[in-house]
Amino acid sequence: MAQDPLVVFTPSGKRGRVAPGTTVLAAARQLGVDLDSVCGGRGICSKCQVAPAYGEFSKHGVTVAGDALSPWNTVEERYDSKRGLKEGRRLGCQAQIVKDVVIDVPPESQVHKQVVRKAATARDIVMDPATKLYYVEVEEPDMHEPSGDLERLARALHDQWGLADVTADLHILREVQPVLRKGGWKVTVAVHRGTHDHRPRIMEIWPGFHEGGIYGLAIDLGSTTVAAHLCDLADGRVLASAGVMNPQIRFGEDLMSRVSYAMMNPGGDREMTTAVRDAINRLTVEIAEEAGIAPALIMEATFVCNPVMHHLLLGIDPVELGQAPFALATADSLTLNAREMDLTAMNDAARVFVLPCIAGHVGADAAAVALSEEPHKSEDLVLIVDVGTNAEILLGNRERVLACSSPTGPAFEGAQISAGQRAAPGAIERVEIDPATKTPRFKVIGSDLWSDDPAFPEATAATGITGICGSGIIEAVAEMRMAGLLDPSGLIGSAAQTGTDRCVADGRTHAYVLHDGRAEGGPLISVTQGDIRAIQLAKSALYAGARLLMDELGVDAVDRVVLAGAFGAHISPKHAMVLGMIPDAPLDKVSSAGNAAGTGARIALCNVTARAEIEQIVRRIHKVETAVEPRFQEHFVAANAIPHATAPFPHLSAAVPLPRVGFNTGAGDDGAEGGRRRRRRRA
Ligand code: FES
Repeated sequence: MAQDPLVVFTPSGKRGRVAPGTTVLAAARQLGVDLDSVCGGRGICSKCQVAPAYGEFSKHGVTVAGDALSPWNTVEERYDSKRGLKEGRRLGCQAQIVKDVVIDVPPESQVHKQVVRKAATARDIVMDPATKLYYVEVEEPDMHEPSGDLERLARALHDQWGLADVTADLHILREVQPVLRKGGWKVTVAVHRGTHDHRPRIMEIWPGFHEGGIYGLAIDLGSTTVAAHLCDLADGRVLASAGVMNPQIRFGEDLMSRVSYAMMNPGGDREMTTAVRDAINRLTVEIAEEAGIAPALIMEATFVCNPVMHHLLLGIDPVELGQAPFALATADSLTLNAREMDLTAMNDAARVFVLPCIAGHVGADAAAVALSEEPHKSEDLVLIVDVGTNAEILLGNRERVLACSSPTGPAFEGAQISAGQRAAPGAIERVEIDPATKTPRFKVIGSDLWSDDPAFPEATAATGITGICGSGIIEAVAEMRMAGLLDPSGLIGSAAQTGTDRCVADGRTHAYVLHDGRAEGGPLISVTQGDIRAIQLAKSALYAGARLLMDELGVDAVDRVVLAGAFGAHISPKHAMVLGMIPDAPLDKVSSAGNAAGTGARIALCNVTARAEIEQIVRRIHKVETAVEPRFQEHFVAANAIPHATAPFPHLSAAVPLPRVGFNTGAGDDGAEGGRRRRRRRA
């Protein structure tokens, strides 16, 4: 008796024999091959596309004849004439296996497709979203066997997709009857898979096959900015990204001032809650518009944020977070209805997933960084610093992971800097200073040219040179130190001391002129002594936090450093180390991870099992509370010097020799002590 045909699937390599006439989709299911389908094999969705290969395949021991699959059928022809099927593709649910065959499943047809990530070191995202589309054919009502339309829809979902115990909200009940009839008893539903104690829930229903897709938002809610990525829930593609300033800034620039606003003003917490929710609603509409989709197709949002933002987003008074023992209302992750959070711009039934917090000062943003960067899986000791208004710091390896957060303030984001601005076109983002001539050159956002390029004025004519952003000020300060314009205590030298008339008197201190555009009606962009002090405060807080975790782990060095954060990606490792933002490490072991918290939010959006994983990870992370740790202050003071008063920086010294200069004349700047005073005030 002739053997059943052999089918080999690539790239999985899964193989087996199936009865002749079995569809490719059915064979894939039998053999556990990842082949997608939304319409359940009805030839409507085209998610099951495969590419059969013909000829001799010695690797697989198979020769594939031209008639190994059944000829094109009418369903495929109809699909091809209406929407076009790529050359060489077949619909897996239509093509039947007749003889031995090799079938390639292209990436877009895999259920658990991998999302391509830009950063080579970052983890891949495997698609397995909580909300998916299902196309079903529902039995028509029968007078003799009375049952509700919703019950028959639920039964169809169970029989055709194995979804048990499906439920729906009232608004779906209102729609189910007209939609079922309009679709001729064929409908597409978006179902949110139950987590915790929730049942699978129908979120939306469309007549017939829904072509419009469904989408989700991954939101990184920071103290200064709110950044969102709009992702396609079918394949994880980011269709649009947008950000707005957090409007809560008007209630206080940093977290503690917002907590005190809530403490001092009855109803202040509610004001801040409303402000941020309104901003998220506006951002939702904006980002949907940019991507060209209806906001109602946004079915889910995931949030990462620090504990104060977390409470204010949820409408919880953050007062307890302002005082020891810094108790959170809840540290667990949450699955909520967007409606109950007044997030009304997305779908009526949209669900919100808020990542878990680690502790009262270490939030869901740090949890998201852990999800993205996976320190708990690292062989070597890794320090991950998420730089923002509040820095999230993680240190550890597969044995133990510690976390803390450190109040760096907004200086790293260009705020509190005399010529500071947001990272936007026209902002200086890169700086180099010639150590011999002390002359600077720079790049601005929006142009790839250095300012000493003859074509620079023309290239920047549209944007102008408007200010200096976070990465620009970090490079400027580090370059000033490398060029001998700044001494280790952070004092800017005078023109006489430094030999350049770019160092100008500025009250009792000095400033370094980076760019003077006044003759053309532009701004004067200098680095002032006050700017240096603001950066020193911020970097000392960052370093002290990292050092505290190293103490806790009993180590004096780390194997590698990862700079994360929306702006962490733009910081040059060399400049970060010259400044002493991070502990000494080989320069080639300092890398950027981009917006790791945002990536963590995306992972949680695209992969429902990652949500359970992050719960596990968070429980294993040991948090260190910087606010009540006396050594934090010691580390902070020692870290005020550039790069550091006492800690050796052997790798840095080998790579970048720093000039020995000292400009302390005893007058003018109030130095480190002033920094200490300001910090005490802030605390
Ligand atoms: S499974 Fe939908 S077209 Fe084949």
